[in-house]
Amino acid sequence: MLTIDLAGKRALVAGVADDAGFGFAIAKSLAEAGARVSVGTWPPALNIFMNLMERGKMNESRKLSSGQLLEFEKIYPLDAAYDTLGDAPEDIRTNKRYKETGDFSIEGLTRRVESDFGAQSLDIVIHSLANGPEVKKPLLETTRPGYLTALSVSAYSLVSMVSRLAPLMRKGGSFLSLTYMASERVIPGYGGGMSSAKAALESDTRTLAFEAGRRYGVRVNTISAGPLASRAASAIGIIEKMVEYCAANSPLQDPLQAEEVGNAAAFLCSPLASGITGTIVYVDKGYHSMGMALDGGPSAS
Ligand SMILES: NC(=O)c1ccc[n+]([C@@H]2O[C@H](COP(=O)([O-])OP(=O)(O)OC[C@H]3O[C@@H](n4cnc5c(N)ncnc54)[C@H](O)[C@@H]3O)[C@@H](O)[C@H]2O)c1
Repeated sequence: MLTIDLAGKRALVAGVADDAGFGFAIAKSLAEAGARVSVGTWPPALNIFMNLMERGKMNESRKLSSGQLLEFEKIYPLDAAYDTLGDAPEDIRTNKRYKETGDFSIEGLTRRVESDFGAQSLDIVIHSLANGPEVKKPLLETTRPGYLTALSVSAYSLVSMVSRLAPLMRKGGSFLSLTYMASERVIPGYGGGMSSAKAALESDTRTLAFEAGRRYGVRVNTISAGPLASRAASAIGIIEKMVEYCAANSPLQDPLQAEEVGNAAAFLCSPLASGITGTIVYVDKGYHSMGMALDGGPSAS
């Protein structure tokens, strides 16, 4: 029988701070397939996340098909805006949400993983994070700092993670990020340079797949997901409308479930996908293939 078997594999999912987003769903699917999973959590969200876990508030969503709860091997603090601790400004390093966490940079994360698990200890790295402080502003009104922050946190962070974490990967290792079709088609309301950041992420996926494939033998892919009312997406302000619009206009009309992205991610990171790298996989109920909106237009049947 052909199954997704990740037994013996170790995964790191960067960008989990609750159970509502793609990162959590991917972590769960990877665990369902047998992988051990650690997560990287943004320091401002770390305490709330730990509290939710400790107080059992996420127990329902943590339940695996075996009946056991999804457990994380480690929960690492991670601010993907910084490659090294020295890059973080003083006011961040001394901020009450950061100062007790130790080295929260991408380099710090890498050293912690190495010291916890050893030199060749990782098989799967998921990049499921993004931040665009001016996402509600049209591109025409986006400031240079807002634009560059969106690019830095949402796109360059993948470059930094691949360059630092790929040397810790075992043969057949796989990186996967999350993108959105605003990179290639106009989505009014998805502003602040976030569409530019996703375009960079997709282009970098190809180049990183080539460079890291040749150098380390790892794969790099990205999933272009349909809209989901996650915490991050709610910040856009029009996410409910986006979900509704996609359901009304996609080939498959049920709203996208995070688990569907989780399961596709588990496949892409498994040995079954050993021939797939440098690519964008759409998990969006087929919305990307449409050329005409049905909303108010001719019906499908
Ligand atoms: N929700 C959607 O509609 C949608 C659609 C397509 C793609 N995506 C992408 O999926 C990925 C996951 O987002 P999500 O929608 O599941 O929301 P989410 O809120 O579950 O995940 C985003 C995570 O990024 C973290 N984060 C923000 N800034 C960070 C930083 N500087 N360092 C480290 N972590 C940081 C947040 O704490 C959060 O945990 C993102 O790349 C997003 O752009 C989302």
